[in-house]
Amino acid sequence: MTGHGKAEFVVVANRLPVDLERAPDGSDNWKRSPGGLVTALEPILRTRQGAWVGWPGLADAEAEPFEDDGLQLHPVTLSTDDVENYYEGFSNDTLWPLYHDVVAPPSYHRHWWQAYAQVNERFAAAAAEVAAEGATVWVQDYQLQLVPGMLRELRPDLRIGFFLHIPFPPVELFLQLPWREQIVRGLLGADLVGFHTPGGARNFRQLATQLAGATAAGHGHVAYRGRTVKLGAFPISIDFEALDDLSRKPEVVARAAEIRQELGDPRHLLLGVDRLDYTKGIDVRLRAFEELLGEERVSADDTMFLQIATPSRERVEHYIRLRAEIEQTVGRINGDYSRIGRPPVHYLHQSLPRDELTAFYLAADVMLVTPLRDGMNLVAKEYIAARHDDAGVLVLSEFTGAARELTSALLVNPHDINGVKAAVVQALEMPRDEARRRMKTLRRHVKRHDVDRWARSFLDALGLPT
Ligand code: ADP
Ligand code: F6P
Repeated sequence: MTGHGKAEFVVVANRLPVDLERAPDGSDNWKRSPGGLVTALEPILRTRQGAWVGWPGLADAEAEPFEDDGLQLHPVTLSTDDVENYYEGFSNDTLWPLYHDVVAPPSYHRHWWQAYAQVNERFAAAAAEVAAEGATVWVQDYQLQLVPGMLRELRPDLRIGFFLHIPFPPVELFLQLPWREQIVRGLLGADLVGFHTPGGARNFRQLATQLAGATAAGHGHVAYRGRTVKLGAFPISIDFEALDDLSRKPEVVARAAEIRQELGDPRHLLLGVDRLDYTKGIDVRLRAFEELLGEERVSADDTMFLQIATPSRERVEHYIRLRAEIEQTVGRINGDYSRIGRPPVHYLHQSLPRDELTAFYLAADVMLVTPLRDGMNLVAKEYIAARHDDAGVLVLSEFTGAARELTSALLVNPHDINGVKAAVVQALEMPRDEARRRMKTLRRHVKRHDVDRWARSFLDALGLPT
């Protein structure tokens, strides 16, 4: 049995909230990790003085546990092979496309699966070592679905929650997975398994009964191996207040005005902000914009589209291909429609600091969020939180978790290019009063349903007093 640690509350996630960066001179630097999971969990963990078990984001990085602003960070080392087979392979080339409606074909390789199981063992062992007797451990996301079961074996005294940050797929798609039963049993090791939507919870319940012999045990529960496992929907959110405050800072407001000026004061500014991922539908919005320019329903003289894309999973084949396609499309649109000093598309393949990103949100008239499938999409909520001026229009894909809540946005089907084009035109031409009315409603919702409420509702359901 592993020796018990001191932490009463432990988060286990693939990544730490900070990534290790090694400069060419060998010096180390910790930088905020990408993606929605860290955005959502970091504020909660900092206020709870918890421990966080995760990978430092660099192969073969051996780092000692350390404290960062009240948070105990426990790095888990991944070798170069682990990164290739567990992270890039099974997590991001098997599970990621499978769980996102197979918008790209998933690859199934037995050696990737073995690496996934081994690395999950390592995370479970690390969590078992850090957690105090009777502690609560909150395991995060698709990279670690075997951890709840493994951790329960090691430490039956723990209270274990699991939250999936990406969609849980329809039953008939999940059944493709050769290791479907192991994954379902791994998740059933938790006391509570949380999803973004009730549909995800329903799909999982069906699979738990079909593949693992779990039985229905009242509303939202299944019985499994003498225990009761709760299942539920907990739509994640953002720290509304922090972003609202940031967006009101005079330097951020001034920077937003400066951005528009630097872009040559376009009458309309459209914005996209994403990890560079094929699920995000960046190609969809570029195609819509290109066609609108071609049909002269939008003019490059007064309208600009700015796409900011964080580099992501850069060695995975689908991502390499996507990047090439996006860059080619941007080049083609600008080749066809630019005037000197005035390209209609600006493309930044960069990660930006929070205040700069907030200034971009504040500068944009229309925010384009067009994923083919997305568990939630925090960018949509961030745009709303940043619009303290009640201005701006959100165009939002129906296939995001966010669309269930943000019904005052202009909802689009990203597979229907004509529909997306019509929504873009509607957004550009929307009377100021209507835009304001919609944005106020959206802001009211996100303000009330913030990340703190999300975490509290999950932890309440897990039985942890908050
Ligand atoms: P995912 O978790 O799939 O990456 P989300 O939209 O839920 O998608 O979360 C993305 C997070 O990453 C948001 O908090 C967003 O602000 C941040 N982000 C996305 N693109 C950038 C960027 N270019 N620079 C900085 N942060 C970014
Ligand atoms: O929210 C989905 C997610 O995969 C998180 O688990 C992850 O932290 C984030 O997106 C960024 O992805 P990655 O860790 O692969 O860079």
